[in-house]
Amino acid sequence: MADKAFIKLGEKEVELPIYVGTEGEESIDINKLRDLTGFVTLDSGYKNTGATKSGITFLDGELGILRYRGYPIEQLAEKSNFMEVAYLLLYGELPTNDQFVDFTDRITHHTLVHEDVKQFFDGFPSNAHPMGQLCSLMCTLSSFYPDSLNPNMSKEATDLTIIRILAKMATVVSWIHKKSVGHPIMYPQNKYDYVSNFLYMTFGMRTEEYVPDPVVVDALDKLLILHADHEQNCSTSTVRMVGSSQANAYASVAAGVAALWGPLHGGANQQVIEMLEIIKADGGNVAKFVEKAKDKNDNFRLMGFGHRVYKNFDPRAKIIKEACDNVLNKLGVFDPVLDIAKQLEEVALKDPYFVERKLYPNVDFYSGIIYRAIGFPTEMFTVLFALGRLPGWLSQWKEMREANEPIGRPRQIYTGPTVRDYTNIAIR
Ligand code: CMC
Repeated sequence: MADKAFIKLGEKEVELPIYVGTEGEESIDINKLRDLTGFVTLDSGYKNTGATKSGITFLDGELGILRYRGYPIEQLAEKSNFMEVAYLLLYGELPTNDQFVDFTDRITHHTLVHEDVKQFFDGFPSNAHPMGQLCSLMCTLSSFYPDSLNPNMSKEATDLTIIRILAKMATVVSWIHKKSVGHPIMYPQNKYDYVSNFLYMTFGMRTEEYVPDPVVVDALDKLLILHADHEQNCSTSTVRMVGSSQANAYASVAAGVAALWGPLHGGANQQVIEMLEIIKADGGNVAKFVEKAKDKNDNFRLMGFGHRVYKNFDPRAKIIKEACDNVLNKLGVFDPVLDIAKQLEEVALKDPYFVERKLYPNVDFYSGIIYRAIGFPTEMFTVLFALGRLPGWLSQWKEMREANEPIGRPRQIYTGPTVRDYTNIAIR
């Protein structure tokens, strides 16, 4: 294994250090490149750039590996629960029983959202997109906790901010759902665990007792675990970038929500169901849509297919596909789009276009079918992704701040006009 890199630029050769991660990932440390050579690197979309050193999530796209703090996602999805995973991501180790009880207890006791936040919330039209509402409300919350704006707050105060955000986002998400169906919001109840409380606030009614269905609790818990972190993806990198200016955690999370909204990132789960519905309405001819996705003159893409990093399979998609069959069977739900999804996957996976480009179903391909079976409207899907990703965003924000990382400020290669003299054209 090389321990130094040499870059030759014309006659000049410079030596750069190599940095190797704990899983053997090799990188060239270019921190001094510009000082030594005057050159910067150009890497649109950061396809080749390690933006940070992180000890939270390991991902090997070629082998289809995903681990949180070293623990394989398959084991966590089967044996752990979302709150335990959140603790693991934030603090680096699995909690003892006492630590788990204390952590979940603190979250439970912070689920109530300040009543005045409702005044902002009431201003949204009932058909406002849930992601726009969530983004605004997460930032709004910062106004109610002015202490959290201090970048030099104590470790304890930072921890409290993290607990508050984890607790309150679930409540806010439930409000957004209630508004979309025209129902009054529900206040959290401390007798429930995190996922049951969220389901109660979302689907419970003031007029009747709510008994969470264990199949639904389990399915949602699993989905949240699978979304909990994914190293330096678009929204997480955004959270770290915003946080690097020492912006507070509420603002950083709101920025993450904004980045997640896009259809190429978390917004894909909503688009997948919409695409499957279009295929169904068109008579279910999946081959026709595979052809459309391959046609470079047509901007249609198979939503829920492809990934920047996974080039073999997305381990989360594998788990979700199995869970999907299981949950629909247990709930006695028949969803015709599941059939279309499976046919689409089968056709696409045999097609040379998808095989050559290593395009496989990703986490968003089957998750929407489960969300729908649970009773969520399509527009809520990306908000659920955000709820799952929240512990990851907060862990990465915390890691970045604890490491005292410098402000994120990339360079550019300027391609605009060179210097020219101003001449008066419009103003007489
Ligand atoms: N359907 C058809 N062709 C595709 C697709 C697709 N879903 N995805 C990629 N390609 C083609 C693309 O046209 C390109 O072809 P060519 O080499 O001939 O120009 C090639 O595959 C490489 O694609 P790319 O866009 O350069 O790859 P990327 O790494 O920049 O983009 C992606 C990754 C996820 C944005 C992309 O695969 C995509 O748009 N997928 C659909 C949206 C989606 O499902 N997003 C959710 C991602 S998983 C959840 C998350 O973590 O956000």
